[in-house]
Amino acid sequence: MAETSRLILLICILTSLVFISPAQTCLDYPFPGGEVFHSCTHLPVLDASLHWTSFPSNSTVQIAYRAAQTPTGWIAWAINPMGTGMVGSQALVAFCHSNGSMIAYTTPIPSYNPSMEPEEISIPVSDISTVYVNNEMIIFAVLGPLD
Ligand SMILES: *[C@@H]1O[C@H](CO)[C@@H](O)[C@H](O)[C@H]1NC(C)=O
Ligand SMILES: *[C@@H]1O[C@H](CO)[C@@H](O)[C@H](O)[C@H]1NC(C)=O
Repeated sequence: MAETSRLILLICILTSLVFISPAQTCLDYPFPGGEVFHSCTHLPVLDASLHWTSFPSNSTVQIAYRAAQTPTGWIAWAINPMGTGMVGSQALVAFCHSNGSMIAYTTPIPSYNPSMEPEEISIPVSDISTVYVNNEMIIFAVLGPLD
């Protein structure tokens, strides 16, 4: 039950984002690996898009967050399962390591001055990966099972 309500909460957060920009269509975006997501929303302020598919059968949500960025920049996508605002949110971060590899990891945001070091977050995250393509960084991840 708790699992279901958390998943519903997350879907509601995602769905509420859709109304920021209902005219934008991002469903046609051709992911480099051919990934397909059920829903997406464009976040014009960030020049970013969030794509997701939820699987109620196992309480997981598959996401891709992509944002325009220079090769040396970094991107982060965060959700706050406890409410709204930055403090308490749980982030996925990606950037290009100085050795030339794109790396992605999770990090909690416990304050306004977070370490941004790789660390476990309060939401289970698996299959996190990232690519840089067409001047965009993309983070892929599976969130959940949410309990
Ligand atoms: C959850 O279910 C979906 C659909 O059946 C499946 O594709 C996915 O791999 C499952 N995820 C996990 C983490 O078991
Ligand atoms: C670059 O560094 C990261 C983080 O230490 C590591 O995961 C990755 O494998 C390295 N890539 C190369 C090409 O050495």
